[in-house]
Amino acid sequence: SLSFNLSHSRPSSPVSSIFSDSSDRTMSSSSSKPELTRQNTHEVAERDYFTENPAPALLEKFTEQASDFINFHAAAGRRVVLVTSGGTTVPLERQTVRFIDNFSAGTRGATSAEYFLETGYAVIFLHRQFSLLPYSRHYSHATDCFLDFLHEGPNGSVVANEEYREKMLKVLRQYNSAKQKNLLLTLPFTTITDYLFVLRAIAQLMRPLGPNALLYLAAAVSDFFVPPERMVEHKIQSTNAADTKNDSTPAPIENAEEETFDNFDSSPAVPRSKRLIVDLDPVPKFLKNLVDGWAPEGMIVSFKLETDPEILVHKAQYSLDRYQHHLVIGNLLSTRKWEVVFVAPGQADQWIRVPRNRRKKTISGIENMVGVAASGGEIGERPLDPSELPEG
Ligand code: PMT
Repeated sequence: SLSFNLSHSRPSSPVSSIFSDSSDRTMSSSSSKPELTRQNTHEVAERDYFTENPAPALLEKFTEQASDFINFHAAAGRRVVLVTSGGTTVPLERQTVRFIDNFSAGTRGATSAEYFLETGYAVIFLHRQFSLLPYSRHYSHATDCFLDFLHEGPNGSVVANEEYREKMLKVLRQYNSAKQKNLLLTLPFTTITDYLFVLRAIAQLMRPLGPNALLYLAAAVSDFFVPPERMVEHKIQSTNAADTKNDSTPAPIENAEEETFDNFDSSPAVPRSKRLIVDLDPVPKFLKNLVDGWAPEGMIVSFKLETDPEILVHKAQYSLDRYQHHLVIGNLLSTRKWEVVFVAPGQADQWIRVPRNRRKKTISGIENMVGVAASGGEIGERPLDPSELPEG
């Protein structure tokens, strides 16, 4: 079985040492010229991105809240974790009707936040607005409507149904305790730009915490975006009907090909002018800036999501080599609820999985997974065979 504590000071297993030893994290070499050049590239990318893209309206407020929160816990010598959770969006229009989304319900992040709180961390929960939150997640996105957990009691009161009462009371007490002790700060984001601005601000604020800072990056972050200079103000039109809005007579049709088109015309043969072609730029990989500049002494754990089992470990190792942080937790979309792979510098890869007898198909699969990683479970050197997974 596996036992680890998210502690900087008590290595008790290979996994605990991942969290407890920052000495093997080598910063990018500043002695070689090519590395220096690459470093400058990252700085320029950062300067350009944060100059050219608009800061979220609530950045100042969030920074103030996070600063108060961090100072409060720093004074108590408490460890602080920034958990990022949920997917970032990429708007296609300034007044956004359409956007591209990244897959993530927020289960991993919200569940992990609960375990961090249980372990004594103060948690800043930077999450996609309306995705799962610690504690409320048990009810907010349940298969049933949350009202199905309740019934009307005496004198107009609202009472939890008998079968849910015990668990609900436990969750409510944990939630209230975290709130009363000021241990949980929740901050929402929607777009990739919101996310990056707030991530940078909080990571920089956490810097004075030194090794008492942990950054746990479970959010699903967009890799491509529409840069501001190419983003249209208004809703992208699917017909040219709006072109005639000030004319009483329709515009003459010069070319039959350019005739008013509609949404039923989806044949691949439609002319280019009638298709929506989305041209995206890459989002700079700010994990490098985070590791080297924003929070260089913090412990940094990133996640790697893939769908192809053949490339997952390679991509996780690549990420670790490139960014030189402490741990990459790899997961496959199809099996993410049952197993993950830990890839850490100088250590053999470890597949950590929910034991077979707890591997039933439930919505809380990830809860089992995070619990297993925190308290004990199967460890393997290879991923699960599909036949070993729950059906569906
Ligand atoms: O929320 P759930 O439904 O429970 O799902 C959980 C999860 C599958 C989303 C989660 O476990 C997970 O894998 N999260 C990371 C998904 C992801 O964005 O992977 P990626 O391979 O695109 O990015 C890997 C790392 O690069 C991330 O740490 C990210 O912060 C970083 N990155 C990504 C894009 C970018 N432009 N810059 C970055 O620095």
